[in-house]
Amino acid sequence: MTTTTISERELREAVSMREAIDAVRHGFIDLVNGEFEMPVRTALNDGQFLVMPVHHRSTGSAMIKTLSLNFDRTPAITGTVVWSETDRVDHLVADAGAVTTLRTGAVVGVATDLLADPEAARLTIIGAGGQAPDQVRAVHAVRPLRELTVVDVDPQRARALVHRLEPELDGAGLHTTSDIAPAVRDVDVVCCATTATSPLFAESALPAHVHVNAIGAFRPTMRELPDDLLASSVVVVDDVDAILEESGEIIHALESGAITKDALTELGHALTAGQGDFGKRTVFKSVGIAIQDWAIARLLADKFLRG
Ligand SMILES: NC(=O)c1ccc[n+]([C@@H]2O[C@H](COP(=O)([O-])OP(=O)(O)OC[C@H]3O[C@@H](n4cnc5c(N)ncnc54)[C@H](O)[C@@H]3O)[C@@H](O)[C@H]2O)c1
Repeated sequence: MTTTTISERELREAVSMREAIDAVRHGFIDLVNGEFEMPVRTALNDGQFLVMPVHHRSTGSAMIKTLSLNFDRTPAITGTVVWSETDRVDHLVADAGAVTTLRTGAVVGVATDLLADPEAARLTIIGAGGQAPDQVRAVHAVRPLRELTVVDVDPQRARALVHRLEPELDGAGLHTTSDIAPAVRDVDVVCCATTATSPLFAESALPAHVHVNAIGAFRPTMRELPDDLLASSVVVVDDVDAILEESGEIIHALESGAITKDALTELGHALTAGQGDFGKRTVFKSVGIAIQDWAIARLLADKFLRG
């Protein structure tokens, strides 16, 4: 057996955010077209270990990601992405932490491109941890930023993120704070990327027109968004089955009666329906599904196995 191993540095050099966004967008369209066989991921020890398999029918390819998560450790997310094809004996193994941040950014880029105001240029991100840089890069790739505000309970983390991203943001105004409400009052896009277990802001803190991405909560006990925001917004999710199992905010809003399951639109369906004037706030909630990792792994396979 021949195995090609891809490090974080090799992944970063090989795949741009723009390519990742396009690959993940096509992945969601393939999902709607029934191209994937994808069980809901297996979570062990209350989500400390995750196993995510997926098979893509027409390419005869499969990807399995294993993750170990520990938010008291740096990096918090580690593991492997393994790519296989029916017609090949060689395999590709990539750094799952790097693939995860890239594909989690990429899906936010896809959703923001579809749902945010075309003129959006002001982003507030809440949470300046491991996922944050690619969240900002993804929004910047689809809505070039004029203003970025970074909010974190740890001000040092917020400053470090701004410092790291400054060279990539083409002169955008950069701000940091630990106070969420003023930071989301007059903004076009909000990204939530925290480990919070209760809503980060009240619905009334947001402007009338805003697009909110929330990728943080991945267990029923975690929440970043309030029920009334979900009740009053167009809500797009990555995958309804995964969301009903893992998204604390959606589970809470369903249990409280704030929303019904019919209120959830899957990203793939929203993409095939096309861009519209949604006329109200839009929310994209993602817990992360294996087709996103498959999409990045396929780019790597094209470049490193066939390239
Ligand atoms: N949806 C997905 O596909 C996906 C993928 C990867 C990670 N995640 C999840 O995203 C979350 C963030 O991941 P990470 O790797 O960046 O974690 P991290 O621990 O590196 O960073 C989280 C940051 O959020 C900050 N924070 C926590 N609570 C806050 C609050 N109430 N207000 C402001 N800041 C707060 C922390 O100080 C920290 O800087 C985790 O829950 C992780 O499991 C989701």
